[in-house]
Amino acid sequence: MRSILAAGLTALMLAALPGAAAVTVKKSEYAKLPDGAVTMFTVTNAKGMEAKIITWGGVLVSLKTPDRKGTLADVVHGHDSLGDYRADTGTYFGALVGRYANRIGGAKFQLDGKTYKLPVNDGANGLHGGTLGFDKRNWSGREVPGGVELSYTSKDGEEGYPGTLKTIVTYTLTEENALRIHYTATTDKATVVNMTNHTYWNLRGEGDILNHLVTINADKYTPVDTGLIPTGELKDVTGTPFDFRKPMAPGARIKQADEQLKRGNGYDHNWVLNRTGKGLELAGRVEETTTGRVLEVFTDQPGVQFYTGNFLNGSVKGKGGKPMNQRTALCLETQHYPDSPNKPTFPTTTLKPGEKYDTTTEFRFSVK
Ligand code: GLA
Repeated sequence: MRSILAAGLTALMLAALPGAAAVTVKKSEYAKLPDGAVTMFTVTNAKGMEAKIITWGGVLVSLKTPDRKGTLADVVHGHDSLGDYRADTGTYFGALVGRYANRIGGAKFQLDGKTYKLPVNDGANGLHGGTLGFDKRNWSGREVPGGVELSYTSKDGEEGYPGTLKTIVTYTLTEENALRIHYTATTDKATVVNMTNHTYWNLRGEGDILNHLVTINADKYTPVDTGLIPTGELKDVTGTPFDFRKPMAPGARIKQADEQLKRGNGYDHNWVLNRTGKGLELAGRVEETTTGRVLEVFTDQPGVQFYTGNFLNGSVKGKGGKPMNQRTALCLETQHYPDSPNKPTFPTTTLKPGEKYDTTTEFRFSVK
């Protein structure tokens, strides 16, 4: 009797613990490769929220989350097949981006007196880890409580970067409707690391994002040159179309005659997050008023790239073969500032042997 009572109590206590209730993880084959397979992990919580992650590029393929009536919709851009993900070299839909996400000016940097040259894949610059960055690799995947752990070892010299980098990224879904991404990496030679997830969000699940209400917790941003490389200045957002400290529709000012908006073809800039400590703090919030879906992004990173899908022009097809048009999604890529390896005044992205790159970003969903 006692033991039955005790077991019942334990079950009750477990159920009351946040995140301890049943998040289920299902594994299936997504596609075959000549030397293995791409695995899909379907992670579901008791509220019906569901995330699908594949080992190819660590891509978040779909994320279903309820609106204020409880109706689920897929709120991320993606493709229907591995072939489409492989053929798409420009969008980075849902992918884990590395070794260095965002741009490195002139596609080169110096470390300990040596110059490292990277693939030139964006004008004169290096973008998103190179031609075969982390988004174009098949990671090893295994189920962990509440999610999936992905690992990838990037060889010394791969895509021009020094040092063998052992990377582990864990996606977990919580019972409170948060998708947590935890990144770690270690190296055997000094290198630079800046990883992110490149999900394209559309909280309505269709149409454009010009009326989503966006808040970015930042007093400053990093203005860019014509190649979208930060000039080095941390510019006050006050009185500019970059002031998102109060909820604002991206569409409200995106067409303003502003030199920075012109350079980015819209919003495609890094914001300098207001931070008070080292832990997870609010980077941004997105609200979609017709469905009531709200996304809050929490991170320990110093910056966030807010990108309004300016380069989408319908030529890339998404799920169901639908043309992905301009501004049909927005990205909030938590990260270090672009071109940090060439900007001594920016927080450092150097990782040395014996150190651990360790960072977390959480995408928290709710309704209003
Ligand atoms: C980032 C960049 C953009 C673009 C997208 C991918 O957000 O800042 O300029 O390259 O990735 O298309």
